[in-house]
Amino acid sequence: MRKIAIIGGTGIYSPETLQCFEEKVIQTPYGAALCNIGTMCGNQVIFITRHGVGHKTAPHKVNYRANIWALKSLGTEEIFATTAVGSLNPDMEPGHFVVCDQVLDFTKSRINTFYDNPERGVAHVDFTNPYCPRLRDKVINCLYKTDIIFHKKGCYVCTEGPRFETAAEIKMFAMLGGDLVGMTNMPESLLAREAEMCYTNCSIVTNMAAGISPTPLSHSEVVEAMDKSITMITIGTIKGFIIINTNPITFCFTLFLIIGIILFYTYYLICAFFHIFFSCIIDIRSIINSVIIYITFVSLEISSLSHIHT
Ligand code: HPA
Repeated sequence: MRKIAIIGGTGIYSPETLQCFEEKVIQTPYGAALCNIGTMCGNQVIFITRHGVGHKTAPHKVNYRANIWALKSLGTEEIFATTAVGSLNPDMEPGHFVVCDQVLDFTKSRINTFYDNPERGVAHVDFTNPYCPRLRDKVINCLYKTDIIFHKKGCYVCTEGPRFETAAEIKMFAMLGGDLVGMTNMPESLLAREAEMCYTNCSIVTNMAAGISPTPLSHSEVVEAMDKSITMITIGTIKGFIIINTNPITFCFTLFLIIGIILFYTYYLICAFFHIFFSCIIDIRSIINSVIIYITFVSLEISSLSHIHT
C-alpha cells in the first residue's frame, strides 16, 4: 500500500477524493496539523487543506513545518500539492494548469528548514530540481487525459505575501525567468525535500499578475477563478494521480476478481440454459467447476503476492 498525500491549495478544501476518511489531529514538534486520512484504489491517502477549513490561514502564516512533519510521521512517500497562481507569461493564461519544474524563492520571514536546531545538526540538501521529476511525469500523464490546457514546465516565483506584488516586482520576476507567481510553494517543497519525500506541484493560473492584468487584483478574484469546473478538473487530476500510483499487483488482483465475478454469473446462466433446454447440466458443470477452481487459486496466489509487495 502506497502512502500518498494531497495538499490542497485555494479552492481545494475538502477531501472528496477519499473513501471513508477520518479526520485526525497530528501533534508535531512544530504544532498540530489537521489531516484527513482515507484510502483510494488500495493507496492510503492523506489530505491537508493548506489554508485550513474556510481558508482562514494566510500564506505566510501556514504552519508548513507541522504539515510536512505530520505527513512524514504518517509514512507519506509522495506529495501532490495544488496552488493558485498569477501568470507573468502571456502563454500561460487564466484556466491553464502548469506542472512547475523550477522555483525562485522571494519569501522573507518564513522558517524554511527543519535543521535550525543544533541537536539535529546542519544539513544542506540538494535542490537543483525542486520538484520530483518522476511525480511531475505522473501529473503530466493525468493532465493528458483531461481537456485542460496545460504546460509541462514553468518557473514558480514564491513571494512572501499576503499582499499581491507591485508591477515593478512582476517585471523583475519576468526578467529573471519567472513564469508564475504564488505565495505558498516555499518552504513547502523544500521541507518535503529535507524530509526525503517526493513532492510535486500543479499550479492553476487564476489571473494575470500585477501590472499585466488590466484591473487591480483581489483575493475574491482568485477564489472566483477557481470556479466549480476548475475545482472539479483539479479533483479529477488528483484522483488520476492516485489511480496512477496504484500498485500493478493490486490492480491485477482487482481485475481477476471482476473477471471471476463475471464468469461466475455466466456459469449460472449457461447452466440454467442447459437445464431448461437440454436437461443435461452434469457435464457442463464439471468443466466449468474446474475452471472456477483454477481462477480462485490464481487470485489467491496474486493476493498473497500483493501483500509482499505493498
Ligand atoms: N500573486 C501572488 N499569489 C497569487 C496570485 C498573484 O497574482 N494569484 C494567485 N495567487
